[in-house]
Amino acid sequence: MSFQKLKPEVKAILENENLSVDHRLSQVCEVLKENIPYYDWVGFYFKNGDKEELKLRSFAGEPTDHTIIPFGKGICGQVAVSNENFVVPDVKAQTNYIACSINVKAEIVVPLFLNGENIGQIDIDSHTPDPFSKEDEEFLQWVNEKVAEVLS
Ligand code: SME
Repeated sequence: MSFQKLKPEVKAILENENLSVDHRLSQVCEVLKENIPYYDWVGFYFKNGDKEELKLRSFAGEPTDHTIIPFGKGICGQVAVSNENFVVPDVKAQTNYIACSINVKAEIVVPLFLNGENIGQIDIDSHTPDPFSKEDEEFLQWVNEKVAEVLS
């Protein structure tokens, strides 16, 4: 399904006040994973209270051991401090990378801002080498903006 077709689905999930915010976030992870063939794991990490670490809040795909990630560690931890999108076409080429599964070939992490503050991120793992484009970055930024509206 194209990103344009997915947007109304994501919006409807996030605006569904009958579901808890956690449930809505899990559904967003599911809908992205199920509809984009090269999205094999989708998760939201958020800053864990006032600690300098990320905590996994919702995900779709295989469970991961990495539910807590210190700032600066791995792709996720680097995005927590850089405030920039991080597109990794080949995870093997990264030195500061936390492997979750031997099947993962590529990863994209996009920070999530609330009132200008980097409070979390969406993280996608792919079993396909080099699958991510500018369209993925723009779509995931849009998803994060919609999530921020729900959290505000
Ligand atoms: N690969 C990530 C860790 C999280 S997993 O992809 C679920 C990283 O290097 O930060």
